[in-house]
Formats: sequence, structure tokens, C-alpha cells
Amino acid sequence: MKLVGLVGSVRKNSYNAMLLNFLAKRYEDQFEVAVADISALPFFNQDEENAPPAAVQDFKKNILDADGLLIATPEYNWSVPGILKNALDWLSRGERVAVGKPVLIVGASTGMMGTLRAQVHLRQILSSPGLDCRVLPPGGNEILVTFAASKFDESGQLIDEPTVSFIDTVIQKFVRFV
Ligand code: FNR
Repeated sequence: MKLVGLVGSVRKNSYNAMLLNFLAKRYEDQFEVAVADISALPFFNQDEENAPPAAVQDFKKNILDADGLLIATPEYNWSVPGILKNALDWLSRGERVAVGKPVLIVGASTGMMGTLRAQVHLRQILSSPGLDCRVLPPGGNEILVTFAASKFDESGQLIDEPTVSFIDTVIQKFVRFV
């Protein structure tokens, strides 16, 4: 199974990048994750939606070929970061390559809400007609890594056992879902 990973942060020591890397490594016997560099995408321009720049065309082809998406989002001001919204806006226009794709949303924040509000927004965005993704339903499946600074060690490993064990359960459900 081939998944494309999107991270909504370009920060060097991003907890969300750590979370995505953790998923890619821990479940490598179940799926392969290719992380897309959404920081290389230009700002969305509707004038170019039907003939987008090369970086966007490559990104859209990767999404089209994928069996599903893993999206690791920070929460910025109670929503998704602009970099992630920009990538999703490109996917939603011209050839709608994300339609029907299974998606797992995960997120890490330094606060006590663990990206909950951003994830609610992201579900709504992914339900729009241009994207129309199949997001793993939220009941019991919300991967919200709260107080992230205490859950990862210096080398970026997720070290909180209850969190790891919960993620194991959700990943098994996502693999069946895909
Ligand atoms: C934040 N942060 C934050 N946290 C949160 O729980 N709710 C929020 O609304 C926000 N808003 C917010 C806005 C902006 C502009 C920044 C830079 C940060 C804190 C955020 O959770 C923290 O910086 C994470 O570490 C960001 O994720 P990465 O970069 O570690 O993946």
C-alpha cells in the first residue's frame, strides 16, 4: 500500500513531521509513505489551475497514484496552517486527483487540545466537492498528540506508550479502511 504524507509545518524540529516519520517507520511492513514537499508549491493561482506549474503537476500525479493520504497538521490559530490549505486548494481544481482518496488525519500541538480544532476544520475542507476525500470517521479515531514537547524525545521518537498503543489501534482500522 502506497500512501502520500503531507505535513503542515516547515519548522526544522516540527512535532508533526516527527509524528509522520514515526508512522512511516513503525508501520513500514504495512504501508510505504512518501512525504510530499508542499513547501515547494507556489501559491495557488486560479489562472493556472488547468495548466499548473511543474511542481504542482508532480504533486498532483503523486496524489493520483497513491492509495491514500496521511495528513499531519499543526493547529495555527484554531485552524490548519496556510501551507497545507494552499496544497489542498491546488488538489481541488483542474483534475480533481484527491476525490475518493482515503485519508487519515493526525496532529500534534504543544497545547492541551492536540490540534482538535484544526482537525475539525480539516475534515470540513476535505469534504468540499473539489476534494471529496474519504476521511476515516472520527469516532474513536482522533490522533491528537497533546503537550507534544513531552511526548517526543531528543531524537524525535514518540516515547509516550499510551499514545503509541492508541495509534496502533487506529492504524489497523485505517489499513482496513483503505
Ligand atoms: C500555534 N500554536 C497553536 N497551538 C494550538 O494548540 N492551537 C493554536 O491555535 C495554535 N496557534 C498557533 C499559531 C501559530 C502561528 C503558531 C506558530 C503556533 C502552537 C503550535 O501547536 C506549536 O507551535 C506546534 O509545535 C506547531 O507544530 P510543529 O511545527 O511542531 O509541527
